Amino acid sequence: MEELHIDKSLDKATKYKSLLPQIEGLISTEKDTIANLANVAAVIYESFDFLWVGFYLEKNGELVLGPFQGPLACTRIQKGRGVCGKSWERNESIIVPDVDQFDDHIACSSLSKSEIVLPFSTPTFDTIIFDLDSEKIADFDQTDEEYLKKICQLLNQYCIE
Ligand code: SME
Repeated sequence: MEELHIDKSLDKATKYKSLLPQIEGLISTEKDTIANLANVAAVIYESFDFLWVGFYLEKNGELVLGPFQGPLACTRIQKGRGVCGKSWERNESIIVPDVDQFDDHIACSSLSKSEIVLPFSTPTFDTIIFDLDSEKIADFDQTDEEYLKKICQLLNQYCIE
């Protein structure tokens, strides 16, 4: 397997653009969902200065912590609870510029100041939540949403087991 090539000084959109083909190359040769989620979390964590990058997986009617990079996190989230549970309930991405202003935000780390979550599915999981946290206020915007959605689409395409 080749190493990740990333110039950390690039602007956000250019960085995502250069990562997408590398992520596709990485996950297109592996069918296992957990293995691919683990590598995607590592790639994004290594490429940006985010606090936490990871996934929650729907199992038996609740979200359970999956592969991630960053500080330890809460293991189970109910539907409708926190940013992740709301994203699952509404089946839409949520950008939270200031977590202190979000009703019912679940604070896994007091260092987290802003957050983005995106829901998607794979053949083996009805819902997976892609969750990213930052120590900076308003660190996530439409650019992150656009490219992270593309990563979710790649995961949906290649994670068939
Ligand atoms: N803040 C999330 C919980 C998960 S952690 O950020 C890793 C939420 O409110 O759903």
